[in-house]
Amino acid sequence: MNLTLKIWRQKSAKDKGKIVDYTMSDVSPDMSFLEMLDVLNQELIDKGEEPIAFDHDCREGICGMCSMFVNGQAHGPDRAITVCQLHMRSFKDGDTIYIEPWRAKAFPVIKDLIVDRSSFDRIQHAGGFISVNTSGNTQDANAIPINKHDADAAFDAATCIGCGACVASCKNSSAMLFVSAKVSQFALLPQGQVEATDRVMNMVKQMDAEGFGNCTNTGACEVECPKGISLENIARMNREYLKASFKG
Ligand code: SF4
Ligand code: FES
Repeated sequence: MNLTLKIWRQKSAKDKGKIVDYTMSDVSPDMSFLEMLDVLNQELIDKGEEPIAFDHDCREGICGMCSMFVNGQAHGPDRAITVCQLHMRSFKDGDTIYIEPWRAKAFPVIKDLIVDRSSFDRIQHAGGFISVNTSGNTQDANAIPINKHDADAAFDAATCIGCGACVASCKNSSAMLFVSAKVSQFALLPQGQVEATDRVMNMVKQMDAEGFGNCTNTGACEVECPKGISLENIARMNREYLKASFKG
């Protein structure tokens, strides 16, 4: 199929950036979206032009790197997948496709479609881990009975891949879905209880310091999340935060 691509090109963080038009012919419907961009990039390199910079790594929906807007939707038109899992069969011959980076103050554009998501790393560093020593004579974690509902909810929260689609889709650029998933995966398990108070306080503090907006319950984040992270996590994080505030 033949396509017109309108792609955001921006040389550096300081550059203003603009949409540039490209035409592609004989695109196979069996190609993945990123393979289609690979072919375009090869054509640009062959012509001596600068290839389009975009993030990618696993190409299996695991790493969360391939983050971009496709026709105004985070990760493209299909539900519950990342851009690397999107295939060209989701488009029609003659289509025009807009491809843009995430837009959020806390995710500044580095180049073309690549944004700086180190704000997420700093939130993780603020508390998204367990540092108690679990080696040696401590009880085997698998010997602690955990309610099946809690175990399932913890695992669901842990599937967050840190892609940032929740932030990009939110009119307030809120990171609440991401942070709440990271808080929830520990809050639901006994191993997470020791540092629970510091974790939620520090992660929320860092989230606010990074310039993310507030949650106003529009739910766009849940709809666009490729991993189906539930809004229930935000409610749980708010309860954890309230509990921690009383303790603190
Ligand atoms: S909550 Fe969903 S959309 Fe947000 S970073 Fe995690 S996987 Fe991506
Ligand atoms: S490249 Fe890893 S999730 Fe898409």
